[in-house]
Formats: sequence, structure tokens, C-alpha cells
Amino acid sequence: MDKKKLGKSVGIVVDVLMYAIMLTQMVYVFTGNIVHEVLGIGFFVCLAAHIIIKRKYLAGLLEFKGKSTARAVFNVSTLLLLAASAALMLSSMGVSRTLLPKFRLFGNVDMHVYLATAVLALAVLHGGMQGFIRTKKKKLAAVLIAAGCGASIAVGLALVPYLNRHFRAVDIDLAEKVSGEKVQWKGEKPLVVYFTRLGNTDFEDDVDAVSGASLLLADGHLMGSDQLIAEMIDDAIDCDVKAITLTVEKYPSSYGDTVSVAGNELRSKARPQIEPIDVSGHDTIILVYPLWWGSVPMPVATFLESGDFSGKELYLIATQGSSGYGSTIDDIKSMASGADVRPVMSIYCDDIPDSRERIGSWLAELNEQR
Ligand SMILES: Cc1cc2nc3c(=O)[nH]c(=O)nc-3n(C[C@H](O)[C@H](O)[C@H](O)COP(=O)(O)O)c2cc1C
Repeated sequence: MDKKKLGKSVGIVVDVLMYAIMLTQMVYVFTGNIVHEVLGIGFFVCLAAHIIIKRKYLAGLLEFKGKSTARAVFNVSTLLLLAASAALMLSSMGVSRTLLPKFRLFGNVDMHVYLATAVLALAVLHGGMQGFIRTKKKKLAAVLIAAGCGASIAVGLALVPYLNRHFRAVDIDLAEKVSGEKVQWKGEKPLVVYFTRLGNTDFEDDVDAVSGASLLLADGHLMGSDQLIAEMIDDAIDCDVKAITLTVEKYPSSYGDTVSVAGNELRSKARPQIEPIDVSGHDTIILVYPLWWGSVPMPVATFLESGDFSGKELYLIATQGSSGYGSTIDDIKSMASGADVRPVMSIYCDDIPDSRERIGSWLAELNEQR
């Protein structure tokens, strides 16, 4: 095979690999994190190979003079694809938890999904335009390109979030995740108060961790992820643990419906009724809560506004799907009047089951300072 033919064949293999990787990356929920990260590196290696193979075309990308509209669209789509790929590379490094855990710039997960969607849609446009330029059936090619780009956007913006919500099964060995080094706590033990969907939701009978996002299957039993954190703290220092529990209306079984109910509650500053939690016997309270709409779930607001927190240390452990603490530090300061509010850590939801060591180290440090 001559050099030109070989280059062409390698180019085709690289292109097919890139499209296959892009689609596989979209089903992250099934492949898991490590496969996603390794394939991500594979994608950028393929992209580098593609750029080297096509370097002659790339050199002429900024020349628009005398070019047909189709060629101009192709050039623009290629330039946008290169820019989006560069941004995706930075964001991939930012969200990587296993291979590049120290690089935290551009670590927003939502942004990563948007950039991946843009790269997929632009790659379809880029590949489609090459076909459009060559074919005589321009109308059919245009329809196929539009459908391909539309489908790519739908995959990234609708299918990926849907799969993440409904198929994120986190099956854990409870004892293995919860037990770790014990801390010999000096003096009065903290009270741990947590809020989680489980116990506050009317789950349908057949719900499992697969259909209930943010839930875990611990030894085959449903468990809220914030409850797991509370159990990790309890394992480390053996303390009082209380769940914030709704007494009247519970949240709907469906994740999507819960999101809209929670949004309405936040807007209307609702304070749902909860089982009273007595904080009077404790000077140190650890609050474990999920971020809901960037703030705390409204039952947590009820808890914070109904107790007397003056002079108490209130340590915050937030869990979230990308937003850090959102506005919760300020929100909690205004709700728990008089409390000395101290943010401790905000844990990304996928990292919750592996947080025991981090939590134990923080408790040991806090114990030392006392
Ligand atoms: C109603 C609702 C709203 C949410 N809003 C946000 C949000 O604004 N930002 C974010 O990063 N995660 C958000 N999440 C994701 C949760 O914070 C995340 O899944 C949490 O770790 C779940 O903990 P749990 O299993 O104990 O309920 C939301 C989840 C729900 C159910």
C-alpha cells in the first residue's frame, strides 16, 4: 500500500474511533468513571492524530476568499470544533477525579456536558459537510446533517441527564464504605443532623437505586447518600445522629417531579413541617445536606429556623451534583441565627461512597484543635 493510501486508511480508522468514543462517552453512567477518563484520553490522542493527518487542510481553514458557501460552513464548523475541543480538554482535566485529581480548573460538570455536546454536534456538522461538498444529493445531505446535529444536541442535553438520573446505580458494601479509623473524641460529642430524599419521599414500591437518583443500594437496601455520610461520621466518633423528617407531605417518587416541587418551595420560601429535633444539649452540630436549587432543601430551612443555635458551632457538609456550596453558606447563616457557621466540605455526589477517609481526617483535625 502506498503512503497516501495508508494515510487515508489510518485517517478513516481514527475518525471512526473518534465518533465511537464520543458516543460511548455519552453513556458514562454505564461505563463508569475510569473507563470514561481513559476513553477521554483516547479521544484526544485520536484528535491529535486527526490534526496531524489533516494538517494540509487545516492550514487553509482561514482562507475564505473564492470559497463556496458549503466550504465556508465547513471551515467555520472546523474552527469551532477545534475551539470546543480545546475547551473540552481543559474541562475534562478539571472534572477528572481519578487520573488528574489535582487539576481543578474548569471543574464544572454541567459545563463539561455542554462542551461535550457541542463537540459531538460540531463533529457531526464537520463530517457531514465533507459529505455535502462531495455528494450530488445536496438536499438529502442537508437533512441528514440537520438531523444528526439535532440528535447530538438531544443526546447531550436530554438523554445524558435522563440516563444519569434514572440509571445511576450505586451499589455499595455498607460496612466496607462506612467503617474506617476511629477518632478518640474529647468531650461532648457533636450532634449530626442530615437530610436525604429517602424517608422524605413517597417512593413507589418498585423504586430502586436505578430509578431513584441520588440513592444508593447498600447491601441491597435503599439508602440516601447524605445518610451514608452521617453513618460515616457516626462510625468515626460514635455520636447522636438525627434525620430531618417531613411529617405532612412527602416529595414525589420521580426525581424530575421532586426537582420542580423543590423549586416551587424555594421560590415561595415554604417551610414544610418536620419532626422536631432538639439541639439544646449540643454545642457542636454537624449538618449534612444536599444542594437543592443551589440552596438547602426547605425542610432543612425549617430545622434551622426552629432551633436555638446561639453560641453553637454549626459545621456544614454539603453534597451536590456540581455546584459546590451554592448559596448555602449565606443562606444557613441567615437561617440559624446566632450560630458560628463553619463550612467543612462539599462532596460531589459520585464521590460520596468514598468519603470515609476524608471525613475521618477532618474529624481527627477538629478533635485536635479542641
Ligand atoms: C430537588 C433537587 C435539586 C437539586 N439541585 C441541585 C443543585 O442546584 N445543584 C447541585 O449541584 N445539585 C443539585 N441536586 C443534586 C443533589 O444535590 C445530589 O444528588 C445530592 O448529593 C443528593 O443527596 P441525597 O441522596 O442524600 O438526597 C439536586 C437534587 C434534587 C433532588
